[in-house]
Amino acid sequence: MEASRARRGLRQDCYVYCISLILLLSPLVGGIQGQSTDANYLIGVGSYDMTGPAADVNLMGYANPEQNAAGIHMRLRARSFIVADPVLSSNRVLFVNLDACMGAQSVTLRTLSRLKSRYGGLYNEQNVVISGTHTHSGPGGYLQYVLYIVTSLGFVRQSFNAIVDGIEQSVIQAHENLRPGHILINEGELLMANINRSPSAYLNNPPEERAKYSYDVDKTMVLAKFVDQEWGEVGAFSWFAVHGTSMNRTNTLISGDNKGAAARFMEDWYREKYGEFSALAETEMLDFAPPGMRPEGLYLERRYKSSDFLKSSGGKRSTKMSSIMHRVRSPMKDSLKPPFVAAFCQSNVGDTTPNIQGAFCLDTGLACDFNHSTCNGKNEQCVGRGPAYPDDHFASTKIIAERQFKRAADLFESAKEQVVGKIQYKQTYVDFSNVVVKLPDGQVVKTCPAAIGFSFAAGTTDGPGAFSFKQGDNQGNLFWRLVGGFLKSPSKEQIECQKPKPILIDTGDMIAPYAWAPSILPISILKVGQFVILGVPAEFTTMSGRRLRDAVKSTLIEQSDGEMGDDLQVVIAGLANGYSQYVATFEEYQIQRYEGASTLFGPHTLSAYIQEFTKLATALVKNRDISPGPQPPDLVDKQLEFLPGVVLDSTPSGVTFGDLKQDVPANASYKIGEVVEVVFYTGCPRNDLLTEGTYGLVERLDSSSGKWIASYDDDDWSTRFSWYRLRTMSPGSFAKISWEIPENVQAGIYRIRHFGAYKHLFGSVKHFTGTSSSFVVSGV
Ligand SMILES: *[C@@H]1O[C@H](CO)[C@@H](O)[C@H](O)[C@H]1NC(C)=O
Ligand SMILES: *[C@@H]1O[C@H](CO)[C@@H](O)[C@H](O)[C@H]1NC(C)=O
Ligand SMILES: *[C@@H]1O[C@H](CO)[C@@H](O)[C@H](O)[C@H]1NC(C)=O
Repeated sequence: MEASRARRGLRQDCYVYCISLILLLSPLVGGIQGQSTDANYLIGVGSYDMTGPAADVNLMGYANPEQNAAGIHMRLRARSFIVADPVLSSNRVLFVNLDACMGAQSVTLRTLSRLKSRYGGLYNEQNVVISGTHTHSGPGGYLQYVLYIVTSLGFVRQSFNAIVDGIEQSVIQAHENLRPGHILINEGELLMANINRSPSAYLNNPPEERAKYSYDVDKTMVLAKFVDQEWGEVGAFSWFAVHGTSMNRTNTLISGDNKGAAARFMEDWYREKYGEFSALAETEMLDFAPPGMRPEGLYLERRYKSSDFLKSSGGKRSTKMSSIMHRVRSPMKDSLKPPFVAAFCQSNVGDTTPNIQGAFCLDTGLACDFNHSTCNGKNEQCVGRGPAYPDDHFASTKIIAERQFKRAADLFESAKEQVVGKIQYKQTYVDFSNVVVKLPDGQVVKTCPAAIGFSFAAGTTDGPGAFSFKQGDNQGNLFWRLVGGFLKSPSKEQIECQKPKPILIDTGDMIAPYAWAPSILPISILKVGQFVILGVPAEFTTMSGRRLRDAVKSTLIEQSDGEMGDDLQVVIAGLANGYSQYVATFEEYQIQRYEGASTLFGPHTLSAYIQEFTKLATALVKNRDISPGPQPPDLVDKQLEFLPGVVLDSTPSGVTFGDLKQDVPANASYKIGEVVEVVFYTGCPRNDLLTEGTYGLVERLDSSSGKWIASYDDDDWSTRFSWYRLRTMSPGSFAKISWEIPENVQAGIYRIRHFGAYKHLFGSVKHFTGTSSSFVVSGV
């Protein structure tokens, strides 16, 4: 049914866009002709803004209570693909890549229930994998277990909703763009983009096993290229293991870190290369909001076709004002082809770091102690250096992003191997607190209830620990003071089970005020022909990931009676559907560095995963049912929230929202590499997330038409939107918008604008905009 609908859609739409399509994609036409006969699936991609609250909310990843959002460097997006069987189109898989620290059980459960009410059972626990990129610069507070929301003052519903909404909208796009096409896969080595941050633990793996590999981290990038039969290339999803810790624990601007930046760079590259948006500068901004819905003072230009917008908002006109703004990137006028989607997905990320120069002591400048990552016995001073060091972390982020993007672009252009074969998937829930594991040597062992070891509190060389988890600690924040009283001492049995881990927090036995850590976790396999994605709810270390991939691959081959061969391409999608910290190998666990200390379910955690995945893979090949396992709890409605809302915004007398506190100097002129900086009186960004919009905009004056053309928005690498108050709790706040003139700038007259919303004491939120004086960009 879906297939015939898609084909009908194709015919109807063809009149409208085929001509422009041929012009638009002329460099690709050769390719399209060659490819069109090969369409063997229905494919669709989508992408949607999920940036969330850009103020006050703790950023997820470093557990640093002082690292709260204060603006945006780059927006965060949910990027999705769907692959369906052209004959039986209900047989399909959905993969979502989030610019978030991790997928989460809370997010998966809520997203599935949204998708269920929209599409019935089409997308469900079985065929959906939602994986996080592991950026450490996205708003937190969206996970449901206590331990992961301590530094965010508990749950933050606005963060949670932004993510679930973003996923839902991106899936709607992918669903509506589902049309005949094919997929190519490719793989290649990417050097100089990751190293191992716990090499001493890796070295404890057996020498004969280590001898099989050239590196102590995976250097392979795997890429899937999505080609629509008519539209040509619509997307690329790649997997490569590297932590999202290029931006360090002092950063307060929301950022997708190295993977988010790589995605943006590749999407821009595609557009420029294939002229997808060549008409951008000439495109007239569309004004589509019905006149009655225009708030005063807010310009309503939007560069997104209204039909697409309505489509993605579910066909309803009840658009929130927040989604009606200026965007620089949007599809070409009259093209129905959706924007190209590039996603950089996370894999067995556990012991990797993008800080490839290694870890050094801040005080002495010497290398840290190899085995303990300490300086003079202390961990706080030992910090990893990115490739740009001593230049700042933005520069390092850009380098690691560009390396991933460039490799992905090569793999994209040289991809030849077509994915062929059945679409299959299997998922189950496993209670990891109590798995009986039969080891290959016949020994029978068990996993344990979750617990965290002492090294957890020390953090890693990407972000030394700041977390004081001592029993009876009354120093923490409001949330910690409330929940810290529920800390428990581990039982003898638990101490024995977790050995040699010295237990810092016995999370698995702590269920008040609600569960501290998960025990029931989802594991998934999505298989499209020879391409296999393993959804794991954790950060697997390098060697853990290799063992799991090998086990699944050999099971699939052995059990398939010759149907599957060595061409199976198995990737791990990390931090998927749920989150349970790390999975180290048994041997790495003995060393008890951060990754071993954060392997929740004891020394045999990895063996339990391998055993359960082997069962899942066997069931998939044999087309057998597998027990769904115990249902994980949905704790979203029980959550405690302590982050205060916005009470009100105000400005000093004599000025109003959108007025300039700092303008550009009169008759200013700037060259490439210089930074333009303006400051506006503003309101709290939490009043309106401006989803798919922008807080800051650089506009260029088009001399022939006299119109201002949107040129760079707050998602662009060259702009930074910083939000600040002069004093905590002050109702007055400021938006600093800075723009570093990029190399490829078009010389001309520019100005900078700010969009925002402020809150009255009695609750109503009003939008405003402000504009700087114009200035000259000379280009050199
Ligand atoms: C690290 O620890 C191992 C095992 O205890 C020891 O053999 C090695 O010498 C240590 N390396 C350094 C550089 O301290
Ligand atoms: C974080 O990065 C900034 C900018 O690169 C740098 O000044 C600072 O020292 C770094 N801090 C840590 C703890 O790495
Ligand atoms: C700016 O330029 C105008 C016109 O060229 C000139 O009259 C004015 O004096 C200049 N102002 C400053 C502050 O340089």
